[in-house]
Amino acid sequence: MGAGVIAMEQSTEKPKHLLDFQGWSRAQVESLFETARMMQEVLERPVKKVPALTGFTVATVFFENSTRTRLSFELAARRMSADVLSFSGATSSMAKGESYKDTLLTLDAMGIDAYVIRVDAAGVPHQAVRWLGKPVINAGDGWRAHPTQALLDAFSLLERLGTLEGKKIAVVGDILHSRVARSNAELLPMLGAEVWLCGPATLLPGELPKARLTTDLREALQDADAVMALRLQKERMDKGLLPSEPEYIAGYQITRERLGWAKPTAPLLHPGPMNRDLELEGTLAESERSLVERQVANGQAVRMAVLYHLLVGRR
Ligand code: CP
Repeated sequence: MGAGVIAMEQSTEKPKHLLDFQGWSRAQVESLFETARMMQEVLERPVKKVPALTGFTVATVFFENSTRTRLSFELAARRMSADVLSFSGATSSMAKGESYKDTLLTLDAMGIDAYVIRVDAAGVPHQAVRWLGKPVINAGDGWRAHPTQALLDAFSLLERLGTLEGKKIAVVGDILHSRVARSNAELLPMLGAEVWLCGPATLLPGELPKARLTTDLREALQDADAVMALRLQKERMDKGLLPSEPEYIAGYQITRERLGWAKPTAPLLHPGPMNRDLELEGTLAESERSLVERQVANGQAVRMAVLYHLLVGRR
């Protein structure tokens, strides 16, 4: 089955997977956000648990490191009474040469109902759909996509701004290596926003169809309704893409002064993990403008909603 067939399957009915936003409509995303708002209410209760996924087993399969995505997915699944199988590539038999496919088929033999997969090789979650025939959620694959991050970013923006229709969202930093930027550049325009992606020329991709690209920070930030700083991904960076960190700071660090170019109430987002005092002035993350902690908190409700939409009613 080719990737196009998967997309077609998604476009004609309720999506079976969340690999990126191909095949997801605005109405489906808005319905997911409705569920996330209900999940927020569950998370405010003294007993933060509902029986929605009783009897389901969710595998979190992380071939690449994570703090926020992995832990919030595991909590999300447990809050809905699912069993969770937690797999880490670093401590697995992959160190002995086992392939992605054999690893996933081994887990599948243990009776898994859904997979949450993070991997540095783009496309593995698509392959997993073919190998496993179970719902697959992409928790970040290479530079390609990180759809649940974009969902929680959009959800947090909607909470603060009320609507994304006609809003200017500036995303600043290492766009080239950023799956977060790519997924936000897919999702935010679907919800009516205009996305500006800004960074040094060496850290910008050639083009992204639904976004505007610029090397001019003032142009990106001017009158923006929200600003998102991205981490400089030193682990994915080939030598020579960045002259030096001081030069990056001089041209692109989000400072209080530069945030002043955006609208006075424009919130500041960062998907984490942060390099404090590199991509943003360190104390801004704790300022009244910051949504950083809110993004993390919303991640759990949004991921509960994703699991709910992909699993409940599937049996
Ligand atoms: N934002 C994000 O994906 O963070 P983690 O790498 O900690 O999951």
